Amino acid sequence: MKEMVTSVQYLISDGFDIGKGTDPYKNFIYTSFQESATNVSHRRVASLTKKTGNKQLAKICGIIAADEARHANAYIDFVDRIFAIDGSEMMLAFEDMMRKKIVMPAHFLRESGGYLGGLWSHFSDAAQRIEVYTAQDYIDILKSLIHKWDIGNIRDLIESGEKARDYVMTLPARLQRISERMKTPSKEYEFSWIGSYA
Ligand SMILES: [Fe+2]
Repeated sequence: MKEMVTSVQYLISDGFDIGKGTDPYKNFIYTSFQESATNVSHRRVASLTKKTGNKQLAKICGIIAADEARHANAYIDFVDRIFAIDGSEMMLAFEDMMRKKIVMPAHFLRESGGYLGGLWSHFSDAAQRIEVYTAQDYIDILKSLIHKWDIGNIRDLIESGEKARDYVMTLPARLQRISERMKTPSKEYEFSWIGSYA
């Protein structure tokens, strides 16, 4: 637990930079995506812990997952309404966030003595390997947002907005091709959080 708390304290003091600046439209794209991702990952942890017999942890993760789905729905609704009144700017914000890729708020994760973000790649590799959150989930979330906002049928945009829409529409297929070439990380990193009783 001590190592875990150290990582959490680092996270709090390091903060994060998720590339959205102070732009509210980009913020709502980010949260629509990120809250959907945390819904998926908590749901998966809930079923994994259920399988291993930790019913309480499964219940906690299930409750968090349901909360995350509600958060996602609220932000998705905000974006939907903004699309109706300011389509071009909303589309440009969507494109910009997807070009930058949606990074998770813990991307600066580290262990005691570690460097900024040093632990994150191991953490996300572990998530991919045990299928708590995968590249396929990223693509599926993107597809569901495109569907919910009916991106393909949004018309009457300024020229750059039209281009942004076309970019977003072709993105899932492009990401799918990339993910098919990706190898599932096999290395099982030993986290200091686990098996450390200091
Ligand atoms: Fe949330």
